[in-house]
Amino acid sequence: MRLDRYLSERLGVTRSESRRMAAAGRVTVDGQLCRKADFHLDEQAAQVAVDGKPLAGSYQQTVYIMLNKPVGVVSAAQDRREKTVVDLVKDAFPRRQLFPAGRLDKTSTGFVLLTDDGAFAHDILAPGRHVDKQYLVTLDTPLTPAMVQGFAAGVTLADGQTLAPAELKAAGTDPCTVRVVLHQGVYHQIKRMFGVFDAGVNALHREAIGPVALDPALAPGQWRELTEQEVQSLREAAGA
Ligand code: URA
Repeated sequence: MRLDRYLSERLGVTRSESRRMAAAGRVTVDGQLCRKADFHLDEQAAQVAVDGKPLAGSYQQTVYIMLNKPVGVVSAAQDRREKTVVDLVKDAFPRRQLFPAGRLDKTSTGFVLLTDDGAFAHDILAPGRHVDKQYLVTLDTPLTPAMVQGFAAGVTLADGQTLAPAELKAAGTDPCTVRVVLHQGVYHQIKRMFGVFDAGVNALHREAIGPVALDPALAPGQWRELTEQEVQSLREAAGA
């Protein structure tokens, strides 16, 4: 692909703006200054930087994104009616087939991992190697010892399914705000677990996936790429 087209697609600028950037000596390709707008690069492999900053998604084989999902967005790659988690990042990665590695409910917020690395997602999600997920939950009723003991023993859901033990504890002084760590992933798991104790969930926020915490600098709807160390620590947590 020509450099000017690549820049305009990645940055959302016009071709002539791209040409000006290159002519002004602001662009490097694989570490080499490149002023030629008609330079042909391999868009899957080239490392392109503008003003010394690598462009998101350039040169990596695969990408790994930490998104702070806002309320009202669905955890899917695409949806005919609803805004999806991939819609929030796709302009920066127009050629990537991104998908969420694990889901949060439409009403939930927090850490959603987006990637185009199917093997990585499989490792993170495989039931045998399930990577812990930590949530901050606001209940409509105060935490009780029966809930804590029930979660520790393994809750049996209304449909008869018995879940793996989960950690549950108070998250501060508010008796309705709790922290939950799950070791497996079942549809609507936390809501269904609290439902067994007649407790409703008013808010649910994923704070961490395995050893990686949601970056507190990310406001709802914001995202950043994972660092190499974060990707590596997730691989290790999955035993991959
Ligand atoms: N459990 C739920 O009930 N909802 C979520 O979004 C995540 C875990």
